[in-house]
Amino acid sequence: MVLLLLLSLSSINSFSSAQSDSDSLYDNFSRCFAQNNVPNDQISKIVYNRTSPSFTTVLESYIRNRRFNVSTTPKPSIIVTPFEESHVSATVLCAKKLGIQLKIRSGGHDYEGISYVSNVEFIILDVFNFRSIEVDMETETAWVGSGAMLGELYYRIWEKSKVHGFPGGVCPTVGVGGHISGGGYGNMLRKHGLTVDHLIDAKIVDATGRVLDRKSMGEDLFWAIRGGGGASFGVILAYKIKLVPVPEVVTVFRIEKINAIEAVYQYQYIADKIDNNLFIRTMLQPITRNKNMSVRATFTGMFLGDASRLMSITNSELPELGLKEGDFKEMSWIYSLLFWASFGNTTKPQVLLNRTPNSVNFLKRKSDYLKTPISKNGLESLFEKIIEVGKVGLVFNPYGGRMSEIPDSETPFPHRAGNIFKIQYSVNWDDEGEGAEKTYIEQTREMYRYMAPFVSNDPREAYLNYRDLDIGTTDNGRHSYNQGLVYGMKYFKDNFDRLVKIKTAIDPDNFFRNEQSIPVLPFRGRKVGK
Ligand SMILES: Cc1cc2nc3c(=O)[nH]c(=O)nc-3n(C[C@H](O)[C@H](O)[C@H](O)COP(=O)(O)OP(=O)(O)OC[C@H]3O[C@@H](n4cnc5c(N)ncnc54)[C@H](O)[C@@H]3O)c2cc1C
Ligand SMILES: *[C@@H]1O[C@H](CO)[C@@H](O)[C@H](O)[C@H]1NC(C)=O
Ligand SMILES: *[C@@H]1O[C@H](CO)[C@@H](O)[C@H](O)[C@H]1NC(C)=O
Ligand SMILES: *[C@@H]1O[C@H](CO)[C@@H](O)[C@H](O)[C@H]1NC(C)=O
Ligand SMILES: *[C@@H]1O[C@H](CO)[C@@H](O)[C@H](O)[C@H]1NC(C)=O
Ligand SMILES: *[C@@H]1O[C@H](CO)[C@@H](O)[C@H](O)[C@H]1NC(C)=O
Repeated sequence: MVLLLLLSLSSINSFSSAQSDSDSLYDNFSRCFAQNNVPNDQISKIVYNRTSPSFTTVLESYIRNRRFNVSTTPKPSIIVTPFEESHVSATVLCAKKLGIQLKIRSGGHDYEGISYVSNVEFIILDVFNFRSIEVDMETETAWVGSGAMLGELYYRIWEKSKVHGFPGGVCPTVGVGGHISGGGYGNMLRKHGLTVDHLIDAKIVDATGRVLDRKSMGEDLFWAIRGGGGASFGVILAYKIKLVPVPEVVTVFRIEKINAIEAVYQYQYIADKIDNNLFIRTMLQPITRNKNMSVRATFTGMFLGDASRLMSITNSELPELGLKEGDFKEMSWIYSLLFWASFGNTTKPQVLLNRTPNSVNFLKRKSDYLKTPISKNGLESLFEKIIEVGKVGLVFNPYGGRMSEIPDSETPFPHRAGNIFKIQYSVNWDDEGEGAEKTYIEQTREMYRYMAPFVSNDPREAYLNYRDLDIGTTDNGRHSYNQGLVYGMKYFKDNFDRLVKIKTAIDPDNFFRNEQSIPVLPFRGRKVGK
């Protein structure tokens, strides 16, 4: 009796939906969308296959690393660009039903392109339509869509108030979705900590297609998406952020010094301890001058206050930099963002609304953390190494201040107290071809190996938003937990286990997965039941 009923049900089902083996993934996807109540005229507006005329444009719109814009880069079978929450739910449910890998993209700045590239067949869910920004000055908060870019967010805050800001990254085209969910930071981190230290609420679509806010998702999941990476847990639609105060006048500077070992040496002892209003980033780069190779140190400063106060601080605490009054530029916070993003000094804030960067390079990044200053001898040999390697720059971002006051367990981002600097290894290049790519990527690896004795170890810490697939990946198969431990300890230290538990509870089938996602607990480690 039951068998008969089942048989007849399944035959009705296959008859009514008229599926056939020759149906393409697109056909199956469209049918599934329709079954999830997405109207047909909307489906054709949001689902692109490879023959759609705008497929390539949509795909390339948010590629931000030319390494993944070449003919050999694997392309998605389908791109979905939802504009309603129900479309996002349908995309999740249908990708799950059809058993296809889903990649989620906001600003596309992932350094390894993992928001839009995969080695298995995949589709992209691009959230660029979710980019509304509502700033509410009464509560000093804003809801910001994950497809918004940081520049748009800063601009919308500035429209409403000249004395509010948000402590996010300094590149205006970085996407909110990846940046915040990965624990994004900017040049106010010594004063205000990270973006994730200022979140009030969020909206996310989980693996069952539910749209959740902080209340309905619960504090565990809300904790996880404050630095654990959104892509392991769901599709983030928006974050509600708390704005931070910024003074009417801030001061910036940028100075360059050649082979300035003494200045860099002294700077290391002060950068994380100086006034919390001051953030000085230093970039060490090999350059050629009069046919001699040298190391140039570029010191870029952000001070939440005026130039005369800054002068007295640097005079007494960092005389080695030789900063003069003429080096300082006073301006409002929004103009300081333009300065940090290297726009010309006649550029207007409206440029922050531009969603397309001026240029896109081939690039590779890696990261490290420095816990003790490097000795003078160490710096001397480091400078030699920078010249020998040839093209890799090292960017030192000072910590301390607010960063060291917040416990590591407060958010998934664990690299707070005890770190003087986060170091980014950085190489950009313009020459096409695999030869160049191999050379320059190998240069970053060589520099990374060289730095081992100076930096954190056991684990050798790394920053999730500086995505680096060299430090370990998972195939999301049987060994995913052990594979995950390798990169997971580097990115999350002791927070990794909590992320795994939350992941296992919210997405036990590991639908939201990628090359470096949070794995689910091995089956034997889970509670049996249900
Ligand atoms: C030029 C440049 C400058 C940068 N400057 C800074 C900086 O100052 N400070 C800093 O902290 N970082 C900086 N970064 C790193 C940046 O924060 C990360 O690359 C960040 O992840 C980018 O977010 P995105 O949305 O643009 O990237 P995407 O490539 O779209 O996404 C990155 C990751 O997040 C996932 N993801 C994206 N959107 C969602 C979503 N809606 N829901 C769930 N998962 C999602 C993706 O699947 C992917 O795994 C910079 C990067 C670049 C290229
Ligand atoms: C589409 O669905 C049909 C019926 O389930 C299946 O036979 C076919 O292989 C699917 N096509 C693709 C490309 O997945
Ligand atoms: C691709 O999409 C178009 C609609 O944009 C559709 O007509 C066509 O059948 C699709 N191609 C495949 C192979 O599914
Ligand atoms: C990607 O490549 C295409 C074709 O070569 C080019 O037109 C486009 O500008 C490139 N985009 C990026 C972001 O590199
Ligand atoms: C370059 O190197 C030569 C030889 O070591 C030296 O004489 C010269 O002063 C150097 N030039 C600069 C600009 O440092
Ligand atoms: C802008 O920069 C130019 C060239 O660097 C300089 O000459 C000019 O004084 C600057 N203007 C302002 C307002 O700072």
